[in-house]
Amino acid sequence: MRRKLVAGNWKMHGSRRSNEDLLGAVREGVRSQHAECAVLVPAPFLAQAESLLSGSVVAWGAQNLSEHDAGAFTGEVSAAMLAEFGARYVIVGHSERRALFAESSKTVALKAQAAWRGGLVPVVCVGEQLDERESGITERVVEAQLEAVLATAGLGEQELVLAYEPVWAIGTGRTATPEQAQEVHAFIRALMARRLGSRAAEWRILYGGSVKAGNARALFSMPDVDGGLVGGASLQAGEFLEIVRAASVAA
Ligand code: PGA
Repeated sequence: MRRKLVAGNWKMHGSRRSNEDLLGAVREGVRSQHAECAVLVPAPFLAQAESLLSGSVVAWGAQNLSEHDAGAFTGEVSAAMLAEFGARYVIVGHSERRALFAESSKTVALKAQAAWRGGLVPVVCVGEQLDERESGITERVVEAQLEAVLATAGLGEQELVLAYEPVWAIGTGRTATPEQAQEVHAFIRALMARRLGSRAAEWRILYGGSVKAGNARALFSMPDVDGGLVGGASLQAGEFLEIVRAASVAA
């Protein structure tokens, strides 16, 4: 039985002062009987997340990492550095990184491997653009994005979280319907099962793209939707906590 996961992707938002309130409220609001909950913060705030969330049931993590373990890579942050601050998860291949920072699926696979080497769980994002959906090639696009990661040696022994995030639904207020999400999630699950057999049933596939308190429950009640990667709504404690509760009810 897969435990639902709700992960907040803060993107490039936050300040030491505002984080105190948000992290404090999330810590207070999430109880052990709820779905698993994580906040994925900008790297400079990891120490603050560690100090404010340690001992709670809320996990924390980062939004990006280097594919390298160490060396002359100015501006980069390694998996080991994230792990030193207690990070459990790291987003890999978010569509904003693919589009704005030219990350290829090959790089995404290398970053997932770097995360595993450093003891982190990668949250690998895939998803189609609006024109790709409209031309009926959603599955082909998602399969191509996943292929590099699924071809990774030793994959079956590692923990992996996938996130299906249709690009047209991110930050737009236009959510995929629960049925649209389920269709792609089931496709991804079948793809993984072909590669990995029964282990595919253990991996969580999150939905992301304008998840809100008002639509979370319907999305999370789909059989292959194992929670959400939440952007904008993760910055408001009340809204985020309602989404965590929706996942707990649907679990
Ligand atoms: P959104 O972002 O919830 O603001 O649409 C989701 C994401 O980009 O992970």
